[in-house]
Amino acid sequence: MATNASRPLEGRHILLGITGSIAAYKAAMLCRLLKREGAEVQVVMTALAKQFITPLTMATLSRRPILVEFFDPENGQWNSHVSLGEWADLMLIAPATANTLAKMTAGVADNLLLTTYLSARCPVMVAPAMDLDMYAHYTTQRNLKELKEHGVGIIEPGSGELASGLEGKGRMAEPDEIVEQLKAHFAEKKKPLTGKHFVVTAGPTIEPIDPVRFISNHSSGKMGYAIAETLADKGARVTLVSGRTALPTPAGVERVDVLTAEEMYRATVAAFEEADGAVMCAAVADYTPAEVATEKLKKSDADLQIPLKRTRDIAAELGRTKGQKILVGFAMETQNEAANATQKLTKKNFDFIVLNSLREAGAGFRGDTNRVTLIDSTSQEELPLLTKREVAERIAQKIEQLLH
Ligand code: C5P
Repeated sequence: MATNASRPLEGRHILLGITGSIAAYKAAMLCRLLKREGAEVQVVMTALAKQFITPLTMATLSRRPILVEFFDPENGQWNSHVSLGEWADLMLIAPATANTLAKMTAGVADNLLLTTYLSARCPVMVAPAMDLDMYAHYTTQRNLKELKEHGVGIIEPGSGELASGLEGKGRMAEPDEIVEQLKAHFAEKKKPLTGKHFVVTAGPTIEPIDPVRFISNHSSGKMGYAIAETLADKGARVTLVSGRTALPTPAGVERVDVLTAEEMYRATVAAFEEADGAVMCAAVADYTPAEVATEKLKKSDADLQIPLKRTRDIAAELGRTKGQKILVGFAMETQNEAANATQKLTKKNFDFIVLNSLREAGAGFRGDTNRVTLIDSTSQEELPLLTKREVAERIAQKIEQLLH
């Protein structure tokens, strides 16, 4: 599901379980904050919880009827705990009493909240709330430890004045802290490339003619840098093998600076050995001066010819050795775009190729936008004019699909 990075709860389905603790009054604020973050909230209460906060309050705030019983006593309608568990992206029990924690550990299923917990496939978090001695009791501590071992997230209670008048640990975490923990949970979940390592080549290469002159091209590196940044944001380790650019290194990216096609070849081949994939975005020179003059070439009245030799094709070399690794290429064409790109896809053994056409306005070198077509062996996807960062996002999404 696509979510906004700054609003990780946007559109999330939160099943809010409320149990019978005085802290249930805080569930009203919690529900409001979750709604404000864009979450959908469905409240499930235990019968006792209704004594502490009214169903009317919770139904109004969540904008959904609250659920307590296995079926509606008025009309006999069945409240399916299985479909509730399926609907939810996360089940949050706040407040969670010592009683409910114990029942959860033991697998007791004597109310709708507990049966939902037992059938939920989504992550579950609990925010315990109880008196300090109940919290410190070895049974509660044992239950919390056991729940934690089974993957239940524990939102630690705070210390301070308790409803009983005593002071100590057991006070349910404040609603805003709970919301922060949920946000962190979903933000982390959104890092689908954690544990993966990608090499990205970017920018132009510079092929020296003599100590002063060189052959190069118009590549700014912007597309490759946007890809490196996007992959890193998604949790990947990224090695950016970069020709000379004026761009800052994106956060969390390891940058290896190179000048020539030969240097780029060596750095990229070495980094690819340990990587899970590579995106070949650099504009690599196809020819380089056969010899680099050690002194500045003197001009004369005669014309000058500089013999050039072929460089090594980095992408083709990675394609030859890639095995199961992912390899993405770029093609910048001025004629027979799709046919040439498809040929390159096969020749270099790319998983997919990103075609930019120099004929399109807003596409190609130096600008901040690009219009590309993603081509793989079975399909072509023409994208509209997008920012390079948006194009990078689409490329990263296609990589994610290939990985899964
Ligand atoms: O053959 P062509 O240069 O059009 O292929 C473009 C693709 O191959 C790009 O992904 C580019 O980064 C990569 N390439 C490379 N090494 C070269 C030439 C191109 O990695 N020497």
